[in-house]
Amino acid sequence: MPAPERYPLSLRINGRDHQMELEAWVTLLGLLRERLNLTGSKKGCDHGQCGACTVLVDGRRINSCMTLAVMQNGREITTIEGLAEGDKLHPVQQAFVDNDAFQCGYCTPGQICSAVGLIKEGNAKTAAEVRELMSGNVCRCGAYPQIRKAVCAAAGIEDDDNAVHAVVSGTVPA
Ligand code: FES
Ligand code: FES
Repeated sequence: MPAPERYPLSLRINGRDHQMELEAWVTLLGLLRERLNLTGSKKGCDHGQCGACTVLVDGRRINSCMTLAVMQNGREITTIEGLAEGDKLHPVQQAFVDNDAFQCGYCTPGQICSAVGLIKEGNAKTAAEVRELMSGNVCRCGAYPQIRKAVCAAAGIEDDDNAVHAVVSGTVPA
């Protein structure tokens, strides 16, 4: 059986340039975890439903299980491994530590990358909007209140326990 065809791929990942040839069917998550040993991004559902695999592509959060690596040719990828600067945690990482925003930690890399993307988007102005706009990231341990507090702290948003159940206009309440 002939070897599968490979395609040239150039990515900048966590500040390092990578050139390689890759089969078309390899997802970005598969490339990160299985070929480059960047195992911080997690495979939860592998179907775009849990957010455990969230990474940043040119600063925008995406589910890396849902995109083929070759589709991201030329782009800049940031994973959880690329957020800290040396020993100094990224402010969102520090906020998760300060607010005890995890239990088993499986969802945490995706939660943090998603929160970094969310803050950059600038669309969340209230704790209720943080809750809604982070709803693509599932936490099976149910650490949601602490995650919301951490994201609000990192984003400079007041966290109001009473307000988080408010319905955000135009969305379906979670
Ligand atoms: S593993 Fe990608 S969304 Fe669940
Ligand atoms: S901390 Fe365990 S799944 Fe979120």
